[in-house]
Amino acid sequence: MKEWDSFDKIVKAKGVWLTDSKGHKMMDAVASMWCNVWGHSNPQLIKAINQQSKKLQHSSQFNLTTEPAEELADSLVKISPGMHKVFYSDNGSSAMEIAIKIALQYWKNIGNKKKTEIATIENGYHGDTFGAMSVGYVPEFFGKFKKQLFSTIQFTVPNKYKMPNGFTLADYQNQCLDKIEKGFSKKDNIAAFVMESGAQVAGGVIIYPKGFQKKISQLCKKHDVLFVLDEIATGFGRLGSMVQYEEQKSIPDIVAYGKMLTGGYLTMAATLTNKKIYDSFLGEFNDWKHLFHGHTYTGNPIAAAVANENLKMYKKNNLIKKIQKISKVFEKFYDEISEIDIVGDIRHKGMLMGIELVKDKKRKTPISPKKSINKIFFDEGKKNGIYLRTLGNIVMLVPPLAISESELELLLKRTILTIKSAKSKVS
Ligand SMILES: Cc1ncc(COP(=O)(O)O)c(C=O)c1O
Repeated sequence: MKEWDSFDKIVKAKGVWLTDSKGHKMMDAVASMWCNVWGHSNPQLIKAINQQSKKLQHSSQFNLTTEPAEELADSLVKISPGMHKVFYSDNGSSAMEIAIKIALQYWKNIGNKKKTEIATIENGYHGDTFGAMSVGYVPEFFGKFKKQLFSTIQFTVPNKYKMPNGFTLADYQNQCLDKIEKGFSKKDNIAAFVMESGAQVAGGVIIYPKGFQKKISQLCKKHDVLFVLDEIATGFGRLGSMVQYEEQKSIPDIVAYGKMLTGGYLTMAATLTNKKIYDSFLGEFNDWKHLFHGHTYTGNPIAAAVANENLKMYKKNNLIKKIQKISKVFEKFYDEISEIDIVGDIRHKGMLMGIELVKDKKRKTPISPKKSINKIFFDEGKKNGIYLRTLGNIVMLVPPLAISESELELLLKRTILTIKSAKSKVS
């Protein structure tokens, strides 16, 4: 914290540009913490917020419902194959807590007392609350709370860049899947398998090899383990498809959405379940099968109204197709980026790129300057007119999804300049 004696004050923003109180402009390569879709100050989204706030700004979702929340639930179920009902919350961590609670309670509801353990893959991230920290354990982030976290069964993620010598990716993936299958066979107490859908984002942009997620979903079915997906960072177009699990051919029992749901304008998240799970919560009052969970701002109608407008805009503007086309711009810069001597690896899918910085390309040892890499890159990025946030030694490019081709080119050119100018400070 000492490194940050002051923070730049953002006073306004338009499109992909943030403006601070001194009038400096920076391109938002972080998409307001990975959630911005259409850029800032979008008139249609602002109109949706204004209109709804004049009608109903908030109403309890306990015993009641609202029109925007109902419309949104219908739309979410429509775009999510296999899903049946929606449970609202107001941030991604809560959506994952809810997913975990639903999964654990499902087994209790159907009378199975054994299934109480959660399995995950290492290096995942699902939020900063205690349940989310437990299933997404990242030692650097959560080590200080380890004693208070519940234990999970963790399996290895097939990270191509960190693969043991002598393996092909296919071999390595099979080895990882074998371990999962063996784990499932040995234990009959696993309630659910929780993972990010398509890629681990906060874990450093680890994009799963083809077939990995599908195979896990099949193993879950075979061994009667609930399959829980976190699409909070990877759904809604970030990886180039609306619903990432559709592309991965791996229909879950429970899925969580957040971040881009409202276009990045208001805080809202959703946990969806299939009919089998939903039905297990239906009982007589004294059966105590319902889910004891709810937040004050659950299903907020203004957030739901802006989410509804956001979803209409995805369709009207054919956003997913546009992302698939424009994200090819990243590929044009692969060579130029990888030639920089502190760049060890580039990982990219859709509108997401992670650039891993190393001291030694051959040994793949991460750079480890005395100052935080994030601070160095923030300062250097600012000089080049971009707002960057690194995660450990990974430079993250997570722009607003509707960024134009020319803006994305500019972002990549400025990122290259930033890595080059930061080089002497980090090595
Ligand atoms: C995959 C994933 N799940 C959950 C979360 C937590 O969401 P929130 O920050 O809204 O609590 C994040 C946040 O970055 C995330 O990347």
